[in-house]
Amino acid sequence: MNMTTTKVTAPAIRAMKGRREKIPALTAYDFPMTRLLDEVGVPLILVGDSVGMVVLGYADTTFVTMAEMEHHVRAAARAKPSALLAADLPYHSYQTVPEALENARRLISAGAEAVKAEGGRAIQQQVRAIVEAGIPFLGHLGMLPQSVREEGGYHVKGRVEEERKALFADAQALVEAGAFAVVLELVDPPVASDLTAKIAIPTIGIGSGPDCDGQILVTPDLLGTFPWFTPKFVKPKLNAAEQMRSVIVQWKKSI
Ligand code: KIV
Repeated sequence: MNMTTTKVTAPAIRAMKGRREKIPALTAYDFPMTRLLDEVGVPLILVGDSVGMVVLGYADTTFVTMAEMEHHVRAAARAKPSALLAADLPYHSYQTVPEALENARRLISAGAEAVKAEGGRAIQQQVRAIVEAGIPFLGHLGMLPQSVREEGGYHVKGRVEEERKALFADAQALVEAGAFAVVLELVDPPVASDLTAKIAIPTIGIGSGPDCDGQILVTPDLLGTFPWFTPKFVKPKLNAAEQMRSVIVQWKKSI
């Protein structure tokens, strides 16, 4: 059963904000999860570079390569979702405008329908070029996982005035460059709420409080399939790893 019968586009995601319709978004890295999320009508599916941690076993997202992203985007795209399929430009793949354009086009050729990259004013030229090339762009502000090593960990953003102002200026830069929505990761909830009220494009929060226009989670965090690390702000709705362990133990005993 595919509840999302019409193809979801970036303008359709953007229009959900005008109707005050909450935007649910989740990550997928392969065919079955993309198909499953699509069948229950999740309108925005992200092949996130979180694949590096929850699938590939890296310590953080900075190890993920373009080739790895393309591989996972191809697998997800084979599900032919009605949902909008977005993909992350990985670490150091969008440092210059030509590089950002080339790599965004590679992800589109692999089957993505939108791309996401981290940053605001610092990547405004890259975002503008991607959008002018006809590729929908999803922003990512707040805690930027690709900067985790420079920042020495995953810290909440926006608690001090300088960070709050930077978030607003970065969000405005993304709006001006043509982003259709922006992920807000670990943004102080009152700041995320204020930003959501003030910008024209939808905010999609992760660990940024309830007032964003949408919410995104790394699906293994929600389902408990990666039990070795769960971010503080996530309450897993299933302990799938425990259930899998128990079934495997029972099967092992039964043979
Ligand atoms: O890589 C990812 O999964 C993400 C989400 C945390 C938004 O960027």
